[in-house]
Amino acid sequence: MTDSKIPAVQLGDGGPEVGVQGLGCMGMSFAYGPTDAGESRATLERALELGVTLYDTADAYGAGENEKFLSPFFKAHRDEVVIATKFALSIPPDDPTTRVIRNDRPYIRQSVEASLKRLDVDVIDLYYMHRRDVNVPIEETVGAMAELVREGKVKHLGLSEVTADELRAAQGVHPIAAVQSEWSLFSRDIEAYVVPAARELGVALVPYSPLGRGFLAGTFVNAEKDLTSDDFRRTHPRFTGDNATANAALLEPVRKVAEAHGVSLGQIALAWVQQQARMHGLPVVPIPGTRKVTRIEENTAATRITLSPQDMALLEPIAAQVAGTRYPDMSFASAGRE
Ligand SMILES: NC(=O)c1ccc[n+]([C@@H]2O[C@H](COP(=O)([O-])OP(=O)(O)OC[C@H]3O[C@@H](n4cnc5c(N)ncnc54)[C@H](OP(=O)(O)O)[C@@H]3O)[C@@H](O)[C@H]2O)c1
Repeated sequence: MTDSKIPAVQLGDGGPEVGVQGLGCMGMSFAYGPTDAGESRATLERALELGVTLYDTADAYGAGENEKFLSPFFKAHRDEVVIATKFALSIPPDDPTTRVIRNDRPYIRQSVEASLKRLDVDVIDLYYMHRRDVNVPIEETVGAMAELVREGKVKHLGLSEVTADELRAAQGVHPIAAVQSEWSLFSRDIEAYVVPAARELGVALVPYSPLGRGFLAGTFVNAEKDLTSDDFRRTHPRFTGDNATANAALLEPVRKVAEAHGVSLGQIALAWVQQQARMHGLPVVPIPGTRKVTRIEENTAATRITLSPQDMALLEPIAAQVAGTRYPDMSFASAGRE
């Protein structure tokens, strides 16, 4: 395994410089079944050695547990890492099992203080609105986020799951470094409006779930049969019942391209996302999630793969054939608002 570092790229006009692949840390505390804290910590250290500098968390991941888990790593490497966290999914005191989207100023101010405390740092490098509450004008939300920049609590701003119009309105209030949305061989909705708007405005794209939550890497086929009872993916329409079987068949071209390059399915899925930077002419920094040292090595190695036009043509028809929606409840996504 080579120790050569992945290249760096600027995250939007005026944004921080980061390794061209980041690390999604959600699964280390939340959503994807049992975790091994020691292996997760080793993965974080190995990622840094390999040039990964953008680390992605959110206050909602394990109700603050993920931020707390990452804190010692961030503090040990404060000048080498770019810490990205998010607000917006509030936990109502009367029902801790649900989430309510909040984008109002008092909530944002309270959330940033809580994240700074859990992370135990003075400043958050990249602060995202995780989800959009359409009842609060985006200008008001980004205005409140911009106050945090002026106060030195946050360095750069990001938005997750926004529409192109919301991004344009936000950029009118304060520069946005990055939009974080789902983008993979299976999920390409953002290419119609959000990606062109981001390119026009000088905003980077941070694709989340670039491995289709593990499905594109062939880690599992049917979530109900293959994953543990506490795994959030068991509720995802794409990964259960007949949809899972139909979607597994769509991996055939990915397998073919992987065999031709002598690499894994997951590496082709990541190389495809990375290739979108060249296809669309904007910075693209995917944040695949892993808790395993061998997988961070495999995933970062994918930044060195270049797919040919023939490879891209083979992979092109996949997304249009995917069965099932991205989420069980699509009101949490931006696509329906375009
Ligand atoms: N903004 C949002 O709304 C939003 C939503 C979802 C996620 N996110 C962020 O995006 C990050 C990434 O998304 P994600 O974790 O949902 O999905 P993902 O990156 O597409 O896939 C993660 C899954 O793939 C497995 N995996 C990783 N590398 C692999 C490899 N080389 N071979 C086989 N399996 C591999 C992981 O297992 P192991 O961990 O066991 O290796 C995990 O189960 C999250 O961690 C989170 O920070 C943001």
